[in-house]
Amino acid sequence: MNKSALLIAAAFLTTAFISASASAGDAKAGEELFNKKCKMCHTASDNGKHGMGPNLMGVMGRSVGTAAGYTKYSDAMKGMGVTWDAASIGKLITDPPAFAAGNMMKGGQVKDAAERDNIIAYIETLK
Ligand code: HEC
Repeated sequence: MNKSALLIAAAFLTTAFISASASAGDAKAGEELFNKKCKMCHTASDNGKHGMGPNLMGVMGRSVGTAAGYTKYSDAMKGMGVTWDAASIGKLITDPPAFAAGNMMKGGQVKDAAERDNIIAYIETLK
């Protein structure tokens, strides 16, 4: 193998490693964390009832503030125009009040990055 082929192989391996670690969260552990930290306000099942917060089934890829039938969104969240993905959900649960001024989510802060990854991995299964 010549030098440039080696470099290409190294670049490929690095990319593979980074994308594997980006979704390294453990969905099973995330479900347990979700049950402890989120479930008192959020259901996560098909047609689950909205609680204090909206049902989170199918939330990945959905626009912020658009769960059908949930009427308690704050203006702060409704007007954001953000699409939920791993990064935006990570940001929300890192510090809910900082995510949007006037956000009504009074709880659900997860300070530990590994725990956040696990919860996000679980939310990715909600479809
Ligand atoms: C004390 C109740 C409460 C807890 C605990 C809570 N949430 Fe929320 N959540 C809310 C409320 C209320 C909203 C709507 C906020 C608004 O419109 O300002 C919300 C909104 C959200 C949204 C946006 C949904 C959408 O349809 O746009 C996501 C995602 C979310 N919460 C995830 C979580 C996660 C993950 C946890 C646990 C780590 C959690 N929440 C814990 C009350 C809570």
